[in-house]
Amino acid sequence: MPTQPFDAAMLRADFPLLAAQPDLIYLDNAATTQKPRAVLNAERHYYETTNANVHRSAHRLAHAATEAFEGARSTVARFLNAASSDEIVFTRGSTEAINLVAQSWGRSQLQAGDEIIVSTLEHHANIVPWQLLAYERGLRIVAVPLLANGQLDMDAYAALLGNRTRLVAITALSNAIGTRPDLAAVIAAAATVGARVLVDASQAVAHDVIDVQALGADFLVFSGHKAYGPTGIGALWARTELLNAMPPWQGGGEMIERVSFAGTTFNRPPYRFEAGTPPVAQAIGLAAALDWLIALDRAALAAHEDALRLRLETALLARDDVRLVGTAPNKGPLTSLAFSHAHPFDVAQFLDARGIAVRVGHHCAQPLMDAFNLSSTLRISLSAYNVSSDIDTLLAALDDTLELLA
Ligand SMILES: Cc1ncc(COP(=O)(O)O)c(C=O)c1O
Repeated sequence: MPTQPFDAAMLRADFPLLAAQPDLIYLDNAATTQKPRAVLNAERHYYETTNANVHRSAHRLAHAATEAFEGARSTVARFLNAASSDEIVFTRGSTEAINLVAQSWGRSQLQAGDEIIVSTLEHHANIVPWQLLAYERGLRIVAVPLLANGQLDMDAYAALLGNRTRLVAITALSNAIGTRPDLAAVIAAAATVGARVLVDASQAVAHDVIDVQALGADFLVFSGHKAYGPTGIGALWARTELLNAMPPWQGGGEMIERVSFAGTTFNRPPYRFEAGTPPVAQAIGLAAALDWLIALDRAALAAHEDALRLRLETALLARDDVRLVGTAPNKGPLTSLAFSHAHPFDVAQFLDARGIAVRVGHHCAQPLMDAFNLSSTLRISLSAYNVSSDIDTLLAALDDTLELLA
């Protein structure tokens, strides 16, 4: 079926921050997205009508708050096509979700000499939690190298897999250069050695339809704020049998069944992993964001974002003072740049003076920058509300900036 034209300008009007700042060109969506009115309204409505602590009190308001919170969990499950909402653990975001898996699953399952494979594409959040565990347990972290275009070297990956490989931790979409690894191939190869797979969907969540049952991974994490939702909320998805076998990682209220000085027994998942009062309003805001996304024509959204990226990259490829860092096929909607005569920080400052927000730095992916022999790039990351005039204004501003800095 042909996709409908995607009306990004109309969507933009649904974002109060953008509507209030019509001259802002926001191209830092991989860092965090702006929030649609539906998300702001959902949090406000919750505080104005339903606020109470969840799972505990016997009064009506507490029941309503619990229902709204658990409804949000069901929305996350539906968004990911999880088999059950019991497979959804709320966390502060991707970082906390990965640390949860490292500290709970990793500490209980991994022993000295075991290996964890990560890719060179990974965000620090999908490297450092494994390193902390490796230092403690004597594990080995091995990294899959990249081809020159930023794709995973699948031959090298196949050679790294072995009978000590226990986990493959891999991004679905690189936040720094946009590569989408072939997850199906990565997961199938991991299965041949019986390794678990954790997918970091932090970037993919806003752009790709995620179906955890079709994907066949063991763990998947994402942050709400990168998918039009609030900060302070994200989720870990894992299959029930895995969660059931995992010990708690943080202690407190909610995660227990019975506490006594003689010993404590623990609640079932997902509550076993949600110690303390959870971020209720944020979970409700996240559900509103995911509902907002679900209501969009996702294929048209993806086509829109990709068309903007191609418009930008086609223009940039014609310049000899700009280099695209990462040119893998099937990239996500973000573009990383290095310049022959200018520092990315200077370029970003000039752009900011013209109301264009981009990201500059190592993007929390220093091993990836090392692989390209760079310390930083300038990153343009796109979203549903970006329009082609954003790209044209950026290109004109880049023209002027690079001429000034030459
Ligand atoms: C690919 C990727 N993984 C993990 C993270 C960490 O996300 P958060 O800081 O929301 O926990 C990010 C954030 O930029 C990311 O882009």
